[in-house]
Amino acid sequence: MFIRVTDQDGETHELEGLEGWRAMEAIRDWGLNIKAECGGACACATCHVYVGEHWFDQLPPPSDDEEDLLFSTLDKRPTSRLSCQIILNDGLDGLTLTLAESSRKA
Ligand code: FES
Repeated sequence: MFIRVTDQDGETHELEGLEGWRAMEAIRDWGLNIKAECGGACACATCHVYVGEHWFDQLPPPSDDEEDLLFSTLDKRPTSRLSCQIILNDGLDGLTLTLAESSRKA
């Protein structure tokens, strides 16, 4: 399966992912600019992405912890999610994500 990720500079990358991976792991392991400080523990919000509108409703809803963290970001939008909380599966083949500025490494 593949996901399409647009980075903070507007460049789109097609990344291979595997079922069960976190979207954050695919983004990080393919070398895109994502801070992901807590390594996927839902404790930092530095893996913030915007989900493509077509895909947003197909994801399981965020947990209360994820919602709280998203509210702590300064660049939250209606389609914001934490990419470490998006577990890839074949039904998400073609998922489109855009990296939020708040996810950029310093
Ligand atoms: S990597 Fe820290 S919340 Fe996702």
